[in-house]
Amino acid sequence: MKTEKAFYEALKYRDPREHIPLEPAWMKETWAQDHKIHKFLPNPYPRKEFFWWIYKEIFGPTRQHQGIVDWLPHHITLNKIKPEFRLAFVGDIMEMKKYRLLFDTSVTDFIADVDLLVGNFEATLTTMPKWVMDQRHNLEIIDQLKSLMNPKKILLNVSNNHSGDFGLANFNYSIDRMTWAGFNMFGRKDIPNYFLGGKINIVSSTMWSDQKDCSYMTRFTDRDQYYINESGIFNILYPHWGYENELWPRPWIVKLSHKLLDSWDIVFGHHPHVPQAVTAVQKGAVKKLLVYSGGNFTSGLNENKHNWGIILKCEIGPLKENPSKIAVGNVNWQFIQVEKQNLSRKIIKDEGPLMLVKTVPVTPLFQDVGSLDLNGHM
Ligand SMILES: [Fe+2]
Repeated sequence: MKTEKAFYEALKYRDPREHIPLEPAWMKETWAQDHKIHKFLPNPYPRKEFFWWIYKEIFGPTRQHQGIVDWLPHHITLNKIKPEFRLAFVGDIMEMKKYRLLFDTSVTDFIADVDLLVGNFEATLTTMPKWVMDQRHNLEIIDQLKSLMNPKKILLNVSNNHSGDFGLANFNYSIDRMTWAGFNMFGRKDIPNYFLGGKINIVSSTMWSDQKDCSYMTRFTDRDQYYINESGIFNILYPHWGYENELWPRPWIVKLSHKLLDSWDIVFGHHPHVPQAVTAVQKGAVKKLLVYSGGNFTSGLNENKHNWGIILKCEIGPLKENPSKIAVGNVNWQFIQVEKQNLSRKIIKDEGPLMLVKTVPVTPLFQDVGSLDLNGHM
């Protein structure tokens, strides 16, 4: 009879008892604990927002504060720089439910030349059953996202209002499973940021959590702890913030954004599920990039209001006239449409329904934005 050691060797696995991983140090932190999961209508906002939130879910996105900020044209040079990095950003990567997911070449071509694609992984990858409001990714999301580009060039944020949907064990499994598949993950409190090329510090943080007691993701109030205040470092804030189904940012978010850009070099927001303005703010000699919401990049809801987003890429490097200062140069952006495909009944039965993600010049949500003048005025 074989020894147990020989048994594992024959299987080409090591005896699991020989290499039980050490408990990571962060497991002893006070934030690394589970919370009671509230299953009935979890709501990320203060109580006074509740009925307004329901109203927008039923009747669609609102246009309050329309025109509060100007949009940038689809192609613009913000500053004269020597490009060193190319980064792309998208908004929420929502669960696909029953749908297959395909990315059009207009998307893969758009990001083919970037060093890093940053997106918000809104759902937890788990096989646990979900409650109505939970966001749960299927295992297929791994190969679907890999079809975009090499996963080593994809950075996924897990700090959002759905981080607490399934508790700490499933949250950790989701991060591990995606990391094993080659993706870069950030947003748990011990991995608040991602550092690219020794110069670019990308920071996660969420303003909201559906599960009020959830403590293990990075919070918006802690963002400045993750800012690197050193010359030659370019700091990008990638916050999960704002309000769902609102097409324009509220005045207090506009004010806050301008204040954030006193120190941060780019702010790219997500969470509203609809696109909000791509804009820029002059700070001293430099124009800084500000996107209020990237909208949705994927969606398993066949609802027109939830099937729009933004894909943006920008060049980053030292200013030509002041090489000690890093800034954004060329910016390119397009609207994203997540479009349900009309397939034959047989294909749907055999292979399942399909959503295609593609770039489009205009969206019915912002009919005038396709024809912006060079100053971003509609
Ligand atoms: Fe969200």
